[in-house]
Amino acid sequence: MQDYLEKYAKEHALPFTKRTAGEFRFYSHRDQADLLLEEDVRIVSFTFGVLAADVIQRLKQRGVILMGTATSVAEAGVLVDAGVDVVVAQGYEAGGHRGSFLQPDLPQVGLFALLPQVADAVDVPVIAAGGIVDGRTIRAAFQLGASGVQPGTLFVPSAESLANEGYKDAVVSARDTDTQLTRAFSGRWARGIRNQFMRDMEASGLEIPEYNVHNSLTAGLRAHARSNDRPEVLSLWAGQHAGKARKGGAAEIFRNLIAGIDFDAL
Ligand SMILES: Cc1cc2nc3c(=O)[nH]c(=O)nc-3n(C[C@H](O)[C@H](O)[C@H](O)COP(=O)(O)O)c2cc1C
Repeated sequence: MQDYLEKYAKEHALPFTKRTAGEFRFYSHRDQADLLLEEDVRIVSFTFGVLAADVIQRLKQRGVILMGTATSVAEAGVLVDAGVDVVVAQGYEAGGHRGSFLQPDLPQVGLFALLPQVADAVDVPVIAAGGIVDGRTIRAAFQLGASGVQPGTLFVPSAESLANEGYKDAVVSARDTDTQLTRAFSGRWARGIRNQFMRDMEASGLEIPEYNVHNSLTAGLRAHARSNDRPEVLSLWAGQHAGKARKGGAAEIFRNLIAGIDFDAL
């Protein structure tokens, strides 16, 4: 993979430096737990699995509310059994990385199917993630058993977002069919707008290393693409509803999101 990326970087005027195995740095959530406690963080939301039992215990002893991400009913069950207070049910349509952690095969359950099944299976509040874009989708999520929603893609084109203009333009002009799941950028499955880097990586036929390694291998390329506004090599994380997102201030986007919702009736 490093040979391929080195050649690719050269051909596309991107930076890349080969590394030896000892040069990779791996971090554990344990490294962050002390800081979270030190800073007296009240809510901790995590993804890609379950925190270690002793970390959960330490956080809960301090009254921290824990939120974990599930992409299947089984994952929701594992989270609740571990002591998680709130489950984020992430549908297949959601933008960015899939929080999946259990099956060897990636769960591919859309939010409409996932939400009621998770809500029936667990006795903690469930937050809906995937395709939430306006009052209609929020009401639908609450109808299906959600107690809250977690929009992501919607805020990518906001003025406050650090996404560059090429990425923001790609999001607001995306069609429903323009996104796909890929491991090309990080080694973990994530949904983004299809671009040249995804196509090239697929066409290479190479086996993509696991998350910690591959994410770190492509980090320099992605950072360069971000600061030089090169959307063809950047990870354009976005959900299937990306084209409904609009540019503007985050406050305005939020106001539009909740416009017309009768909160007492939810
Ligand atoms: C730019 C971006 C980056 C994301 N990164 C992650 C991530 O690293 N891990 C994760 O579990 N979810 C990630 N997500 C998913 C969000 O947490 C959330 O589930 C999703 O955005 C909700 O669906 P929506 O994009 O359709 O609104 C990301 C989403 C976006 C838009």
